Amino acid sequence: MPILKAGSKSEIGFHLNGRAVIGSAEPRMLLSDFLRHEIGAYGTHVGCEHGVCGACTVQIDGQPQRACLTLAVQVEGRSVETVEGLAGPEGRLSVLQEAFRANFAVQCGYCTAGILMSVEAFLRDCPEPTEEQIRDLLSGHLCRCTGYTNIVCAVKAAAAAAAAEKT
Ligand code: FES
Ligand code: FES
Repeated sequence: MPILKAGSKSEIGFHLNGRAVIGSAEPRMLLSDFLRHEIGAYGTHVGCEHGVCGACTVQIDGQPQRACLTLAVQVEGRSVETVEGLAGPEGRLSVLQEAFRANFAVQCGYCTAGILMSVEAFLRDCPEPTEEQIRDLLSGHLCRCTGYTNIVCAVKAAAAAAAAEKT
């Protein structure tokens, strides 16, 4: 069995928002730290660092995951989406981002990146959510500022806008 020296790093290759990334990380390095400190992808926020607040949520192969509960080496060969990947060409806001802006669903913004990544995946699976379903989803995210009402309105507005775009 090979002996791993303390501090030795593993090479990691994955896709970040559609672009190939190669880096290296110690086996214990968290994905949230790798994204922020090795790649400079500061859009992924870190709050509690133990899976409670949802601030660090990213998508891995299309599924929302806590980046603070994922090791960087676990995304080898996979696709990671972060909030930086939501906007369109030239920074045009996505339908979801625009709904958050228009409904004043952002105050300090600390929770917002994680919420957007959860909601984006949620609306793919549940394009016409009830308020109860939206609030259930948001129960996995802590926001200290908004009281959630405007976030719920924004998710409803995004769902309506996406439906209107399809007709
Ligand atoms: Fe990951 Fe709070 S920082 S859930
Ligand atoms: Fe400040 Fe949610 S907008 S924590």
